[in-house]
Amino acid sequence: MNMQKTFLPQVSPWFGEEEIANVVSTLKNNWITEGPMTKEFGDKLNKLMNVEYGVFAPNGTLALFLGLLALEIGTGDEVLVPDCTFIGSANSVLLTGAKPVFIEVNNYNYQIDVKKAKKLLTTRTKAIMPVHLYGMSANMNEVMEFARENNLFVIEDAAQGVGVNYNNKHVGTFGDVGCFSFFADKTISTGEGGYVVTNNENIYKKLLLLRNQGRYNRGSFIHPAIGYNFRITDMQAAVGLAQLEKLQQIINRKFEIYSLYLKYLNEVPGLNFLKVEKGSNIVPFRFLIFVEDAEAAMKFLEEKGIQSRSFFYPMHKQPCFNFLDIHNGGSQDLSDNNFANSVYGYEHGICLPIYPTLADDDVKFICDTIKEFLLNE
Ligand SMILES: Cc1ncc(COP(=O)(O)O)c(C=O)c1O
Repeated sequence: MNMQKTFLPQVSPWFGEEEIANVVSTLKNNWITEGPMTKEFGDKLNKLMNVEYGVFAPNGTLALFLGLLALEIGTGDEVLVPDCTFIGSANSVLLTGAKPVFIEVNNYNYQIDVKKAKKLLTTRTKAIMPVHLYGMSANMNEVMEFARENNLFVIEDAAQGVGVNYNNKHVGTFGDVGCFSFFADKTISTGEGGYVVTNNENIYKKLLLLRNQGRYNRGSFIHPAIGYNFRITDMQAAVGLAQLEKLQQIINRKFEIYSLYLKYLNEVPGLNFLKVEKGSNIVPFRFLIFVEDAEAAMKFLEEKGIQSRSFFYPMHKQPCFNFLDIHNGGSQDLSDNNFANSVYGYEHGICLPIYPTLADDDVKFICDTIKEFLLNE
């Protein structure tokens, strides 16, 4: 074992000569706003996902906001959001003036449990936002059936979902709109970036209008609608195109690392793992384990130079969402006992690194460290 102090970060994007060459050529072409690279990146994303239309947004949170706006969701409306997710999912709803209603997650992969949503439906409920978490799909058969039965829009938060398929269909393409993120820790990254897809031409037209200051064409100063500037730059698209070229390599390497983790940890007593949703592939986002004392385990890992993270802090517990609680004048009972699974996930779940440049030896070192922790616990 090397004697140098190890540091293994939680995430690490994988950029190389291809990304650099693409950005340089964009600069040399003197086209830095949305241009040919953005067009090509969008076309290739649509092809990958087998979807008709797509538009870019500055990040995943704003992609969700834009998608919600295109569905005409706003003040007075409610959107069903899983309790275990990144806060951007819920914040995008609040940005529109609508209210997120938090839904308990299942106990095997912490995705939305629609069975728990029924009793939270009101006449104001307009949409459901499944979140495809940790590199796998939510149960989209259940989500789509629930949405159909209750006449709800479906906006998929597929921020972590590039390359993820459910019953051989790319996530993000089941609902009315699907939203992706290209943040630094995502499967492909442009630093910051977001993408909204749809198969509905009318929704697409609204997306175009809303992201371009409420007008269809640049160069006109007459704005039929209120909109925003949600453009990206061709430099970001240049990075994205190079990332897309190596998507399969990224997915393969992530899967190799995932398999190595399983090999080393499978038989370890006291460890539990996330179950992949039936019908979904996995493009591992992190390697997730459950231990009795997650806090102590994360501290032990940190001391050995391994950066780990807890699961997401449940939405119903977020201090900034106190006002949504019935006990503080809101309309939903946000007591912990309504969200036992997401609380369990937060208290016992640990995210371990999976990124393409993580070496096999690093994975072994991480697994040995976990075993050492469990032995001395
Ligand atoms: C599930 C989920 N939703 C939304 C987002 C928001 O994406 P962004 O950070 O690009 O705004 C993220 C990523 O950070 C995420 O993981």
